[in-house]
Amino acid sequence: MSEHAITIGALRARKGSGPPIAAMTAYDASLAAVADSAGIDLLLVGDSLGMVVHGAPNTLAVTVDEVAYHVRCVARGAARPLVVADLPFASYPDPVRAFESAATLVRAGAAMVKLEGGGHVVPIVEYLVAREVPVCAHLGLTPQAVHRFGGFRVQARDEAEAARLRADAAALAAAGASLLVLECVPSGLATEVGRDVPIPTIGIGAGAGCDGQILVAQDLLGITRGKRPRFVRDFLAGRGSVEAAIAAYVAAVRDGSFPSAAESYP
Ligand code: KIV
Repeated sequence: MSEHAITIGALRARKGSGPPIAAMTAYDASLAAVADSAGIDLLLVGDSLGMVVHGAPNTLAVTVDEVAYHVRCVARGAARPLVVADLPFASYPDPVRAFESAATLVRAGAAMVKLEGGGHVVPIVEYLVAREVPVCAHLGLTPQAVHRFGGFRVQARDEAEAARLRADAAALAAAGASLLVLECVPSGLATEVGRDVPIPTIGIGAGAGCDGQILVAQDLLGITRGKRPRFVRDFLAGRGSVEAAIAAYVAAVRDGSFPSAAESYP
């Protein structure tokens, strides 16, 4: 860890007092180094790599070893940002196997692992945290559940689902999660959850009321082909370099101008 590395404690201390946390995905050392220079706080080696690097239609084929490979690359490039690694699909069916998967990612250079889901992962979060593996939880549109959802769509639009999400968020925070990603949920609900839980919420398609924002690197840089979700902004458009684009993203997250209402779900 470098002398100026961003710690989990430092990110947690920003809850309520700010500035908002600026996070993005990264899968290689070069982009990690540029993002570091641009002031990014957190780099996620997401299982989105299955889609944006491997070209798969979803994240489900990604393995722990593949995430570990990209964590090693990113950790070599990034001195300052916190490096978080996704536990991919089927790598955390129970606490013991979750710990084995997480250990592989921590040994590769991750300071924290992220896992998807609510109530059923609470015992896994407790088990990992008790064994010194910091955890980021992930609720809302959890891509590993794409088949149950029937596609990538906004979640928790009705009151029953919203109530479940609130309860899951509280349980995950009580279990010891350090951060909570909220993906594709109505902005009012995300703001409410952020007020209720003591840990920072990081939104993606969850409005400006979260304690931070995260985007997939390829979305942020306008590389993604096809239909763009409404929460995506191309920060490279009109800017001369990748570093300038990421710096503009960091500035927009910090001053609260990203995401706008039009880039959020009512
Ligand atoms: O895999 C990923 O990139 C993610 C982010 C979209 C939060 O989980």
